[in-house]
Amino acid sequence: MKVLAVNGSARHNGNTSILLRTVCDELEKEGIKTEVIELAGQVIEPCRACWACGGRGNCVHQKDLFTEIFTKMKEADGILLGSPVYSANISANMQAVLERAAVVADMNPGLLKHKAGAAVAAVRRGGSLQAIDAMNHFFLNHEMFVAGSTYWNMAYGQLPGDVEKDEEGMNNMRNLGQNLAFLLQAVNSDEK
Ligand SMILES: Cc1cc2nc3c(=O)[nH]c(=O)nc-3n(C[C@H](O)[C@H](O)[C@H](O)COP(=O)(O)O)c2cc1C
Repeated sequence: MKVLAVNGSARHNGNTSILLRTVCDELEKEGIKTEVIELAGQVIEPCRACWACGGRGNCVHQKDLFTEIFTKMKEADGILLGSPVYSANISANMQAVLERAAVVADMNPGLLKHKAGAAVAAVRRGGSLQAIDAMNHFFLNHEMFVAGSTYWNMAYGQLPGDVEKDEEGMNNMRNLGQNLAFLLQAVNSDEK
């Protein structure tokens, strides 16, 4: 099994990266492969509302990383989304990925059906619930199952590495990784 993680941060190796890596480490312990795609340094264009993706299974506009990301989303058993909180919501790059992925999935029903998903947010102080909700909404209207943890999947920090001082937040990420592994194993069990 494989999980694709997408990091919406503008920073390489920042707080969101640490959170995603923490979740992925737990998945790897269970034998689940992981890949993290970082959007830092990339510009993902928003949806052009051309609707040309219908019947094609992917966006027709290929100037940026989106089509590669969506191809990998389709191949993965699970999708892990991470965003820093920007202006009390997800980053613009993550928003662009999700609006295009949502339209492609709407126009080609079933592409993400029965995959597992989880979303995490790095936040200095306010807006993490909106960010987590925005990412979970993407999973929930594309027939995916969503893993949760003991709290909402956020950790506090401003400068890169700060989230590691948020002990509760980091424990929550480890538990999320274990729950996502459990969900993936249950969904993909031969005993269905
Ligand atoms: C453009 C921008 C907007 C931000 N807006 C918020 C915000 O609304 N609320 C907040 O608590 N932190 C905000 N932050 C701080 C980040 O969420 C915080 O530093 C986070 O840990 C960054 O994660 P990263 O290291 O993965 O980039 C903002 C940072 C940037 C660059």
